[in-house]
Amino acid sequence: MTHPVVDALRAAIGRAAVLVDGDIDERFLLDVLGNRGEAPLAVVRPASTDEVSKTLAICNDLGVAVVPQGGRTGLVRATLPQRGEVVLAMERMNRIEHIDVDAGTAIVQAGVVLQALHDALEPHGLAFPLDLGGRGSCTIGGNISTNAGGNRVIRYGMARDQVLGLEAVLADGTVLDGLKPFIKNNTGIDLKHLFIGSEGVLGVVTRLALRLIPRPAAASVAFCGLSDFAAVRALLRHLRARLSGDLTAFEVLWKDYYTRYLTLHQGAVPMPDAHEFYVLVESSTGDDEASQARFEQALHDAIDEGIVADAVVAKSGVESNTLWTMRDMALEVGMTLGSHCGFDVSLRIADMDAFANELADAARKLHPDSRVLVYGHAGDGNLHVAFSRPPDMQQTFEDINAVVYGLVARLGGSTSAEHGIGMSRRAWLGHTRTPAEIEAMRAIKRTLDPRNTLNPDRIFARRD
Ligand code: LAC
Ligand code: ZN
Repeated sequence: MTHPVVDALRAAIGRAAVLVDGDIDERFLLDVLGNRGEAPLAVVRPASTDEVSKTLAICNDLGVAVVPQGGRTGLVRATLPQRGEVVLAMERMNRIEHIDVDAGTAIVQAGVVLQALHDALEPHGLAFPLDLGGRGSCTIGGNISTNAGGNRVIRYGMARDQVLGLEAVLADGTVLDGLKPFIKNNTGIDLKHLFIGSEGVLGVVTRLALRLIPRPAAASVAFCGLSDFAAVRALLRHLRARLSGDLTAFEVLWKDYYTRYLTLHQGAVPMPDAHEFYVLVESSTGDDEASQARFEQALHDAIDEGIVADAVVAKSGVESNTLWTMRDMALEVGMTLGSHCGFDVSLRIADMDAFANELADAARKLHPDSRVLVYGHAGDGNLHVAFSRPPDMQQTFEDINAVVYGLVARLGGSTSAEHGIGMSRRAWLGHTRTPAEIEAMRAIKRTLDPRNTLNPDRIFARRD
């Protein structure tokens, strides 16, 4: 028997947009890690803000929970449907509505795939600076609702920093039209920030006014080998000073990550794994020889000053892409550990070396074969960790979480720099946020979604 919500949704937005039972494709149940949710009551595929509004209003009236989905590349189980939920799949709202070349802004629907936006902007000489490994399937709506970070935060900031305005639909179907594409708009409380990074628990983002940048004509990319973490910090200081605003990425790989990457790598090895640390640096500039020369001179001087032990500079776009592949393949590199859990923590750069060493010791204490791989956006104070759990390890994943998050809390870090809380990390929110902060978050949630039908159980642990 179909649930009454299905009939109501079909009557409101048409049969074709409301899938049930055998018509629900597997993709709506899975995430990028292969985790599987439960069969939803229905999958709704709206084509407009009005259809999103009707869907949310109907579900809210009937007390049915709704889980929004973008490209399902999230890493914290937020988009996996739970029993009794309706999936709101934003994939049909994938139009780039307007590109304003003079202003450097774009109006896009939430279901636009990040790569599609990059491609559409290229002929206009513009770019959207957000970039991350999931670019081929993640959506702008997902990027904004999770405040995605990625590889160029050091230069351009997080997803939040690219949003000028947005349209969002509240749990009861109310549409908030905040799409004004202005950099400057100091008219009362800036509501867009409620919906950026709040993982869809306060409203569904439907359309966005985005801030664009002139397309950098050229990117200089290099890969450096260094002997210790003090040198990594020195290189960051050096490149900040020498390249100033042009430094667009500073990605650090601890040795074990690189060694494992090489087991997957095909073709000539960029550099032997003879160093303790590796840094992938990128500088985006105008397409002039002077800027490439400035980049190479900065690296040359870093070698002369004993900061960098070895460096490879990409000589073509193809070579740059090859170097970037070692970062984009982070999930695959993590998989070489077998069963493991992943982390994305924020720390002061001064604490990173001790953090990685303490984790490696803790892993060995838990099990002689347990390993940690550490890598990430060290220039932004953000590290990723893959922590393996050998099959016969007695401790659970939650025990591993307790070790890692315990250390993060002790160092005054953040349990999530970019991936968010979702359903995986609810228990650890209090390691970063105070009880008063969490209560204020809950109060906002109660105000905007009093019946708790929008993405329930994400971010906040259930309180029965
Ligand atoms: C990365 C993603 C997983 O930086 O955050 O690789
Ligand atoms: Zn990351």
